[in-house]
Amino acid sequence: MNLSVHTHGRSTSVFIFFLCLYLLPGNWVNAQMVSIPIETQNTAMVLEANGNKDLKVIYFGKKLTDANEYKMVPGVYRQSEDYTGIANSAYTPSGSRNLFEPAITVTHADGNNSLDLRYAGNKVEKLNDDVSITSVLLKDPVYDFEVTLFYKTYYKEDVVEQWSEIKHKEKGNVILYKYASANVYLQSKSFWLRQYHGDWAKEMQPEESKLTHGIKTLDTKLGTRADLFQPPVFMISLDKPATEDAGEVLYGSMEWSGNFRIDLELDNKDNLRIIAGMNNYASPYTLKPNEVFTTPKFLYTLSNSGMGEASRKLQRWARDYKLLDGKGTRLTLLNNWESTFFDFNESKLKDLLSDTRKLGVDLFLLDDGWFGNKYPRNGDHAGLGDWQENKQKLPNGTTSLVKDAQKEGVKFGIWVEPEMVNPKSELYEKHPDWVIKQPKRDEYYFRNQLVLDLSNSDVQNFVYGIIDSLFIKNPGLAYIKWDCNAVIYNAYSAHLKNQSHLYIDYVRGLYKVLERVRAKYPTVPMMLCSGGGGRVDYAALQYFTEFWPSDNTDPLERIYIQWEYSYFYPAMASANHVTNWGKQPIKFRTDVAMMGKLGFDIPVSKLDEKDLSFCQNAVRTYDSIKSIIYQGDQFRLSNPWNNPVASIMYVNEDKTSAVVFNYLVNDRFAQGSKLPIRLKGLDASKKYRVKEINLYPGERSTIDADREYTGNFLMTVGMNPDVNARRTSVILSVDLAK
Ligand code: DGJ
Repeated sequence: MNLSVHTHGRSTSVFIFFLCLYLLPGNWVNAQMVSIPIETQNTAMVLEANGNKDLKVIYFGKKLTDANEYKMVPGVYRQSEDYTGIANSAYTPSGSRNLFEPAITVTHADGNNSLDLRYAGNKVEKLNDDVSITSVLLKDPVYDFEVTLFYKTYYKEDVVEQWSEIKHKEKGNVILYKYASANVYLQSKSFWLRQYHGDWAKEMQPEESKLTHGIKTLDTKLGTRADLFQPPVFMISLDKPATEDAGEVLYGSMEWSGNFRIDLELDNKDNLRIIAGMNNYASPYTLKPNEVFTTPKFLYTLSNSGMGEASRKLQRWARDYKLLDGKGTRLTLLNNWESTFFDFNESKLKDLLSDTRKLGVDLFLLDDGWFGNKYPRNGDHAGLGDWQENKQKLPNGTTSLVKDAQKEGVKFGIWVEPEMVNPKSELYEKHPDWVIKQPKRDEYYFRNQLVLDLSNSDVQNFVYGIIDSLFIKNPGLAYIKWDCNAVIYNAYSAHLKNQSHLYIDYVRGLYKVLERVRAKYPTVPMMLCSGGGGRVDYAALQYFTEFWPSDNTDPLERIYIQWEYSYFYPAMASANHVTNWGKQPIKFRTDVAMMGKLGFDIPVSKLDEKDLSFCQNAVRTYDSIKSIIYQGDQFRLSNPWNNPVASIMYVNEDKTSAVVFNYLVNDRFAQGSKLPIRLKGLDASKKYRVKEINLYPGERSTIDADREYTGNFLMTVGMNPDVNARRTSVILSVDLAK
């Protein structure tokens, strides 16, 4: 029976099944049930409140054709007894019947630690044809305490964002000890976790393992550069490890640029409980009556056809809804970091501006070292925080450089690290109380620096002011690289009364600043950098057009780093620079950087004639194919972890053009591309021509560009890029035959 009822203040449509027979282990119970399907095009999570009004996840998986059948799901499982009655809770409270990892733990105003949450209503708000928000209200029957669960569905993309709001009207403050965003429940024969770890210059190292009973926690306690050791993205394959094109796999991630915690608990019934949120480490949060505590979002997508499909859904969702200017384009650039480090002056920079023009890229990016006078920023030990141009290096300031750039016909961008301070700085001398440090303990540094206390609104104003004054001074400024090199040690704020709010209020303060920046400068491209990829997540990417995956730009290593990031983030968001890292020739380095947003960080003036000409042509080639890289669907064809050749393909929406990047990553027994590589995503019935592009000057391709192949042939038999020790990097364009 599908009835329209008034729940949660609004009239909504819910499925109510009166007095249906509900099978509990060993018991037949008559109960009134409410069923709340949270559906996307291909997937469904179904919540159900029974007569006891416990809200449970009764189904999570591929969408059923008949929604009335969801209620029969629990009846076909024969599992051991649920002693708590809430093992599959949609938001597990602690201190009452629960025996597992909770989603929420509180101490009430009267000192009592128990919480019980019962269904009190639900509603659906349709934002447009694609996006809806289902919310479910839960209330404690004893205390005036409530939680609202939110599920924002992106129908076409099969993506769900889940979060919660916590509120009470008790006669005093409540302490929140745990406050998850989401509590998900999965049933399968086995669960395989693909997780990531890393450190500086070795980000996104994958590990895959079968989850065993107990709790596996993915978390970070680093505060600012939170993802340095552990990014918030992960995959769970059901039954067996998913492959690129087969298997059921869930992608998940926290949208939070600070400490996060994701608990994966395999319970006594062999089911998986996923509880994800901000990390509660050192962070009990005091909630006043009527104050609303909103958790960040937990994001997930489920695919029945392997990792490739899940990643394409997520990339599409990111471009359509999350990444700043995800449907736009990106600027190619020349960065000076690796060619000058801190050692530059106005005349060197002028030369670099004309090199930018010579190379043919859009923008020159001035990196670290342009500021500080009392303590000049001539190394990483001084000057951070003093955002005035260094008078010796830049006697005419940034304004004159922006003008010089205009004369060269290129745009100008600048590096900042506004959340940080060197103890050797005027800022530190003036405002020691703005710095996160323990008042009675020795300071401890990460890259000779400390973190400013963004929980303090004065500090927020200061950080916002750095960006704002750069734009006020230089209306032509076209790009910001926002760096963040230090973690939080000695977490203490001179500003906060409640120290245990620092980790959370820091990130909220950062978002307030970024909101203000974007309110005034909505479209200026900004790169999210954290000494590499130490801070990438989808909450941050709402404010940034791109991120810096790693300081490691050795192209061979980079193939693996970019490959792993690509499961979760679109190529247009990945800023890839050609540098002098690694032993590969310039063509290999450039081809690898072209797989995302292309930049250069090399001394252009030292390139020999052929290398320079190659780079200039590469920029032109890139400009002609970048819309496919930015907006196309990405297909991983040959995995570098277990093949001699890595191959990755981008196909435009109407399947008329594609680009395939191929690299020799392992030359054991001189195998090269022994077998053809099967292409994907083309129109099987159409004819295509395959041509090698981005050739090094003087090189001739071994690929016959005049042949025509059907999409069917290219996807069934494949195409051989002829990768070998003489041709270590090959880019192919695939276009509809005329
Ligand atoms: C770390 C970044 O990852 C580098 O690209 C560079 O901007 C340096 N910081 C500058 O200090």
